[in-house]
Amino acid sequence: MVSVSASALQQDALLQARTELTTGLRQTPPRLPYRLLWDEHNTALYDRIREQPEYYLNRLEMQLLHTHAPAVMGASGARTLIELGSDTGEKALPLLAHMTAPATYLPVDVSTSALNRLTDRLWHASPGTTVRAVAADFTRPWPAALREPGRRPVLVTFLGSTLGNLLPEERQGLLELVAGSLRPGDGLLLGVPLLHDVEGMVSAYRDAAGLMEAFYLHCLRILNRDLGTDFDLDAYAHHVAWSAPERRVEIGLRALADQSVLVPGHPAAHQMAFPCGEVVRAAVAVRFTARQLDGELSAHGFETVRHLPDASGRYMLLLARLWA
Ligand SMILES: C[S@@+](CC[C@H](N)C(=O)[O-])C[C@H]1O[C@@H](n2cnc3c(N)ncnc32)[C@H](O)[C@@H]1O
Repeated sequence: MVSVSASALQQDALLQARTELTTGLRQTPPRLPYRLLWDEHNTALYDRIREQPEYYLNRLEMQLLHTHAPAVMGASGARTLIELGSDTGEKALPLLAHMTAPATYLPVDVSTSALNRLTDRLWHASPGTTVRAVAADFTRPWPAALREPGRRPVLVTFLGSTLGNLLPEERQGLLELVAGSLRPGDGLLLGVPLLHDVEGMVSAYRDAAGLMEAFYLHCLRILNRDLGTDFDLDAYAHHVAWSAPERRVEIGLRALADQSVLVPGHPAAHQMAFPCGEVVRAAVAVRFTARQLDGELSAHGFETVRHLPDASGRYMLLLARLWA
């Protein structure tokens, strides 16, 4: 057996993150890897963004969860809940309240600070529930804790519109991973931001309090601190635009003057240049139709059990099941 030291693992993770960043910045348009943008500060900022009046997505999803939790848990029969990108686990509360004990809840997040702040209410919400936090990247092969979670059936939840933050190929990759980790009869509950008027969709990312802007500008601080880049923090502005062909809001940082950024690396560092006006994309927020998602799920072996849209047609929960 080969023993690997913690610092060697950290070096590997740093190398991998820098390679990911270099690859992303070389793309057209250049992009920041989404998973690297969630440190303690941004995780806490996101908690406040969720409460902003413009960010209707969270409000609608929470209402839908409270309304439909009994039906969702009844239909899924789940004894284990795996929540991808759980943050503090608030969204699991209405679902756990309707789970039959004994049950297991596995919140999964790349942000350890989010997992460390798992809501206190979780521990009291359902006395018969075992809670085991899993710090992992849900886009990579899942650890055994998620592939062999114990009690079945399993319900995987992917809420907070996070499905829309994945590029199409990343979304297909995630559905493949989920399908490959579940057994027939296990379920998947998606929080789905639906296509509607452009102004409404875009304004969610331009809150009057400026918290979205602060979130995305802080991403450069994270990269300078954790990866050793030298982004000039004053040289970029928050950028939000609708892309009709891709049906998504694109959020990024626009260079206010010609920029040059060093990404340290081994064996060589990389110097990247962005001309004035170029947008470094930090996130996408894809909007879906029910039909499109049914098709994508079916291609990965899922059948849609229920669409649960809100009255305004701007958001929906979608419950699917892996075919037997
Ligand atoms: C848009 S927030 C949604 C949080 C929560 N589910 C909600 O509904 O409010 C996305 C969450 O996913 C986590 N995340 C992003 N990329 C991830 C990845 N590749 N693997 C695991 N967690 C990830 C972030 O840390 C964050 O907590």
